[in-house]
Amino acid sequence: MNDINALKYNIITFGCQMNERDSESIAGILKSHGLTSASIEEADIVVINTCSIRENANNKFYGTLGIVKNIKKKLKKNGDDLVVCVCGCMMQEGEVVEDLKARFPFVDVIFGTHNIDRVYDLIIKTIETKRREIEILENAEIKEMPVDRVNKHKAFVNITFGCNNFCTYCIVPYTRGREKSRSLDKILGETADAVSLGAKEVTFLGQNVNSYRGENGENFRDVLVEASKIQGLERIRFMTSHPKDLTDELIDVMSLDKIMPHIHLPVQSGSSEILKRMNRHYDRERYLEIIDKIYSLNEDIAITTDIIVGFPTETEEDFSKTLDLVRRARFDAAFTFMYSKRRNTKAANFDGQVDRVEMGRRFDMLSELLKDISFEKNKKFIGRRIKVMVDKIEGDNAEGRSPEFKLVKFYGKNIKKGDILDVVVDRASPFSLSGKQEQA
Ligand code: 5AD
Ligand code: SF4
Repeated sequence: MNDINALKYNIITFGCQMNERDSESIAGILKSHGLTSASIEEADIVVINTCSIRENANNKFYGTLGIVKNIKKKLKKNGDDLVVCVCGCMMQEGEVVEDLKARFPFVDVIFGTHNIDRVYDLIIKTIETKRREIEILENAEIKEMPVDRVNKHKAFVNITFGCNNFCTYCIVPYTRGREKSRSLDKILGETADAVSLGAKEVTFLGQNVNSYRGENGENFRDVLVEASKIQGLERIRFMTSHPKDLTDELIDVMSLDKIMPHIHLPVQSGSSEILKRMNRHYDRERYLEIIDKIYSLNEDIAITTDIIVGFPTETEEDFSKTLDLVRRARFDAAFTFMYSKRRNTKAANFDGQVDRVEMGRRFDMLSELLKDISFEKNKKFIGRRIKVMVDKIEGDNAEGRSPEFKLVKFYGKNIKKGDILDVVVDRASPFSLSGKQEQA
């Protein structure tokens, strides 16, 4: 390897938007030192940003590591090399790092979720010393880092990091640490910067955005109100909301002009008994009350959710309560998951773990119901004219999102990413809408 700063990197990202955003910081740091991004075949450095939310996320990582190992082997045969870096949530699991140390000698750099700002220094060090560099922190202050965004027309901006909720199934409080809020100035500054570079939409990110607390006592409403004042910013989204912290005041904020009519509000289960064992701090009645309030503000607000089936001790009756809640809440879309035992979480030691086959049956039943409801809700859009922001163009086929975050496919010429266009919907499916662009 010759000139260190002429090296090329490739970043592979698993998991949620937090990880996607972290990868944009990693890219920002490497770019600020003159490195450039490239395909994995052409890269000198590969960074794998890992997720540990469920067991299959961990498995995917090991699969990718196998592929990377072969690429590195081939390069080495030709006298070349590949610096292999792994980071992200899995690296905050001590057992994973021990395993990597013992079984994966070709991994050169290991760092965690609290020190991605160290990526460049660690890479340089491993190249210079030819030794493996491992640096994991248990906790750290929020750091401001350069960013190289995947999309220019829409920006993800962190408002909180970490989580204090300790839902009994969830590994996030262990991998991302305690909740910290970023200062409102920094949030608004990053948003305004993104807008000046062409962003029309911002999505504010946090494990639980509703519990945002700025250094001068500002709350989540203040973030949205202040961001609304940014000229040129047209769409504001946020995720994830936690029902326990979603006050009436925060629900009312949905009626602000630039706030998009969509809320992602994970319910996890429709059984109050299970919700208690999950440590969610709300019951089914409270959740349905919130849903009613949201729909009474505007019945077209889209509500999406996350649901886990097969949480320990979930009975057929508990599960039927989930189905019933889904019917009542009329979700526009949902992510459904089979419960996955995570190391060190409380639920991993609960009695009454549910059989995999039974879990699969419940998963399929729930998916069918959700699909029917999404389809019904999407059909309501047929004949409507909606504003779609373009995310993807292939030939004359474009794809984008409606204000409700519905995926909309349409035919259009001479359009570009970030355009916000009028589309008249003529077809609906359970997972998307399609239509025709209406010329102005
Ligand atoms: N098993 C299954 N699903 C989980 N989630 C979090 N932890 C687990 C787990 N151990 C789901 C929750 C959460 C989403 C991001 O992932 O539904 O809202
Ligand atoms: Fe995990 Fe619960 Fe925190 Fe969400 S709120 S990240 S599910 S502990």
